[in-house]
Amino acid sequence: MEKCHYCDNLAEATSWSPEIPLCLNHFNRYMEKKVESTLKNVIYNYHVTLEGRRLLVALSGGKDSMALLHLLHSLSLKYHYTLMPLIIDLGLPHLHDGITICKKNCRNLGLELQIYDLKSEEGFTIPELIEIDGHTPCSICGLIKRYILNKIAVEHNSIIVMGHTLNDYTYRILRALSLGDMDTLRRLSYILSQGKRMAMRFSPLHDTYEIDICTFLRINGIEYSHAICPYNDFRIYNPYRRIMDSLEEIDHGVLRRLKRTFFRRLKPTAPKVNLRECKICGYPTTSEICLFCRIKNLWMKRKAKA
Ligand code: FES
Ligand code: ZN
Ligand code: ZN
Repeated sequence: MEKCHYCDNLAEATSWSPEIPLCLNHFNRYMEKKVESTLKNVIYNYHVTLEGRRLLVALSGGKDSMALLHLLHSLSLKYHYTLMPLIIDLGLPHLHDGITICKKNCRNLGLELQIYDLKSEEGFTIPELIEIDGHTPCSICGLIKRYILNKIAVEHNSIIVMGHTLNDYTYRILRALSLGDMDTLRRLSYILSQGKRMAMRFSPLHDTYEIDICTFLRINGIEYSHAICPYNDFRIYNPYRRIMDSLEEIDHGVLRRLKRTFFRRLKPTAPKVNLRECKICGYPTTSEICLFCRIKNLWMKRKAKA
């Protein structure tokens, strides 16, 4: 059996990029270093002190968020932040499994899981909203999650940490480029500074391949949910996912190159988004009334009629 590239232990897995055999400890270190580079970016380039801060970790129970939780937990000993793991119960059946898995993982790490129940807090579930709104399921779901996470983070003076991976970024970049969707291109970011009623957010897995995440979970025996969202077939990124993943098989590293080119060369040229306060809730928006409030109003009107 092959030896680890850095020590005499037997290799447990091969990292994707660079492609080297690593033992369990060195594979974990390889993963931690990627997360750490975002933490350092936040500390030194955004001048944010993480020590003593509360990081709100957005969970779903899926592989990315479970890996993120474990990696952030290991690094908390060095960076001295506290973790606030949170899952939003959107009223989608596949999340029952996700919530169970999140509870188990949090218990194993000695963390208290927060569950935000959309129905009891806001009066609706995602399937109910989808029935009345013209948006695609994923876009409405994404919008609601972003709004809720920001609201909770602002109320708790926390920083939001998301599990978006390198693969996620490349699908979004490619789709937005192909459509000339400048709005999405302008908004795409893996570190977003704090603003008025807007919590800082960052995605420390932005430079990590999903394949490495799967390896990390497997060799560490970390449980995650395999349940699939009922709206999976409507996911607008599915075709881009298929294309980009097969391209990566042929041209190793192409996803990372695409993401880096976008963030280093194209993104800096994009004009800034001008935000103002929503007239109803006061949270930042680009229009007079934020999309969350517009959808919520629509829902309340329909309910009153029924
Ligand atoms: Fe939001 Fe599937 S989890 S639409
Ligand atoms: Zn080693
Ligand atoms: Zn609003």
